[in-house]
Amino acid sequence: MTLNFAYIYFMKLIIINGPNLNLLGRREPEVYGNQSFEDYFATLQFKFKTTQLEYFQSNIEGGIIDKLHEVGFSYDGIILNAAAYTHTSVGIGDAVKAIEAPVVEVHISNTFKREDYRHHSYISAGAKGVIIGFGLQSYDLAIQSLIA
Ligand code: DQA
Repeated sequence: MTLNFAYIYFMKLIIINGPNLNLLGRREPEVYGNQSFEDYFATLQFKFKTTQLEYFQSNIEGGIIDKLHEVGFSYDGIILNAAAYTHTSVGIGDAVKAIEAPVVEVHISNTFKREDYRHHSYISAGAKGVIIGFGLQSYDLAIQSLIA
C-alpha cells in the first residue's frame, strides 16, 4: 500500500514595528495617515491568507533586538520598521546582520523627503531590501517581495 502525503507549506513572516508606531492613526496623520496598524494588519491577514503573518511592536530597543533573535533563525522573513531607531541603533543593525532570516526594511513615509537625520539607516546594510514611502502599502509590498 502506498501512502501519499500532500504537504502545504505556509510561509511564516513577522512584522516588527518600532517606537511610536503603536500610535498610528493618531500620530501625525498628515505624515502617517489615519489608520491604526491593528486595522491595517487585519487587511493584510485577509489578503495574505496562505501566509502565517504575525505582528509585534515595541517602543524599547532591546525588545526589538530580543524579538529579532527569537524569530531570526526559524521564520521565513521579517518585515522591520524600526522607526526612529532606524537612524540611531547600531544594536538593531547588528542584530539584523546576526540572524539568518531575510529582513525587509520598510518605512511608511519617504524618509528622504524629510529631515537630514532620517536619511541614514543602520538597518539597510543588513537588509535584503528596503521599501520606503508608499504609506502603509509599504508593508504589503514587503510581504509580496518575501513570498515572491
Ligand atoms: C518611519 C520614519 C522614521 O524616520 C520615523 O522616526 C518613524 C516612522 C516611517 O515609517 O516612515 O517613526 O520609520
